[in-house]
Amino acid sequence: MRPASFLRSTRLEYRHPELADVPRMVGWINDPEVRRHLDQRVFPLGQQAEEEWVRGLPARVAARTDVVLLVLRQSDGEPVGSTGFHAMNWLARWAEFGILLGREHWNQGYGREVTSTMLRYAFQELHLDAVRLRVNASHQRARRAYVHAGFVEEGVLRRAAWVDGAYDDIAVMSVLKDEWRPDEGG
Ligand SMILES: CC(C)(COP(=O)(O)OP(=O)(O)OC[C@H]1O[C@@H](n2cnc3c(N)ncnc32)[C@H](O)[C@@H]1OP(=O)(O)O)[C@@H](O)C(=O)NCCC(=O)NCCS
Repeated sequence: MRPASFLRSTRLEYRHPELADVPRMVGWINDPEVRRHLDQRVFPLGQQAEEEWVRGLPARVAARTDVVLLVLRQSDGEPVGSTGFHAMNWLARWAEFGILLGREHWNQGYGREVTSTMLRYAFQELHLDAVRLRVNASHQRARRAYVHAGFVEEGVLRRAAWVDGAYDDIAVMSVLKDEWRPDEGG
């Protein structure tokens, strides 16, 4: 029996990751194209480390610091990636957004669909006031997906990333609740 989904969007559904999902997640994260713009991914990720990370998720959810969701295609239940909120700040009511899709699922608008869905979850269910992210300035694919979903750039951390043998800037982007339009990127 398929585990129940927690959220749904047009083509996708979202649920808590389970240990059985770990081999797929490890495959995505170790893919050089996928990890190219991710922090802390210049060391290989093993199955055991990822299992421990997944085992630690319920405690982080209980502490209300993180929400992590596996993203699956509704039509056949195929996992396509993961997404989440991290470092959730309940005083100022904002969180950092993260997303990762397996390479074979890029360029089908899933990045935009997931981002839009997570904004709806953030503002309508979690009652956050802002969602923020950091993205390498040269990561055009991600930036386009984020802009489509309603993010705007609010600042730049100069030479804060190292990508493909060169420094890159990091763009800080955000959506404030009162700027957000539910239909954006839908
Ligand atoms: C970033 C990521 C989530 C984007 O997902 P995606 O499903 O490919 O994104 P979408 O299909 O929704 O949108 C991609 C947009 O970028 C555009 N794009 C694709 N390749 C591009 C490129 N090389 N340069 C510029 N734009 C590009 C697409 O045309 C599309 O824009 P459009 O809707 O205006 O046509 C996905 O590539 C990913 O998971 N990458 C690896 C992990 C990662 O880097 N995560 C983000 C860290 S900040």
